[in-house]
Amino acid sequence: MKLFLDTGNLKEIQAMVPLGIVDGVTTNPSLMAKEGGDPRAIIKAICDVVQGPVSAEVVATEWEGMVKEGRELAAIDPHVVVKVPFTRDGVRATKILADEGTRVNVTLIFSATQALLAAKVGAAYVSPFVGRLDDIASDGMGLIREIVEIFDGYPFTTEILVASVRGPMHIVEAARMGADVCTCPSSVIEACFKHPLTDIGLEKFLADWAKAQAGK
Ligand code: G3P
Repeated sequence: MKLFLDTGNLKEIQAMVPLGIVDGVTTNPSLMAKEGGDPRAIIKAICDVVQGPVSAEVVATEWEGMVKEGRELAAIDPHVVVKVPFTRDGVRATKILADEGTRVNVTLIFSATQALLAAKVGAAYVSPFVGRLDDIASDGMGLIREIVEIFDGYPFTTEILVASVRGPMHIVEAARMGADVCTCPSSVIEACFKHPLTDIGLEKFLADWAKAQAGK
């Protein structure tokens, strides 16, 4: 399963990419608004660092505007994936952009039927938001299971990108279900590095080694 970073923060991306575990980046208007500055320049800089798929979201809400903005975003860098919200206009814009060869990530997916419609028009990715479903006492990962099952039965090339991830268990469950991508805030990736037994084990190894060296 691929791991993407869900952030518009260049410093976070620069810190994580050298570890070799980041396959791409997803952004959204809220994340980009937090960064300030010129969003297109930031997207370009992210693409230069990541050298993998970087989702940049349109803010237009009508299909003509989405297509125009999508083309402009795609022109920033070959790594840009145009992110489009799942609406009637979003589906129409996705069909046009996908037919032109632009990769589209259809976002704000909260049902299996939405994912199916996005796949039918050629989305490169669908982004179901698991955390936001959990937040309203719905089964976020249950939705991933449904979409995996549906996509497995057809020759869709659309990848399932698990989004709105809240903790490491979302990553574990996404991988067990066979999702293609999990996009995570860097705090969630950081949490995956932590295990008390690793810390205790390393401390013991180093103490034993130091004792042996001192006795030589
Ligand atoms: O980028 C889309 C998604 O991952 C947003 O997550 O935490 O705002 O629900 P969140």
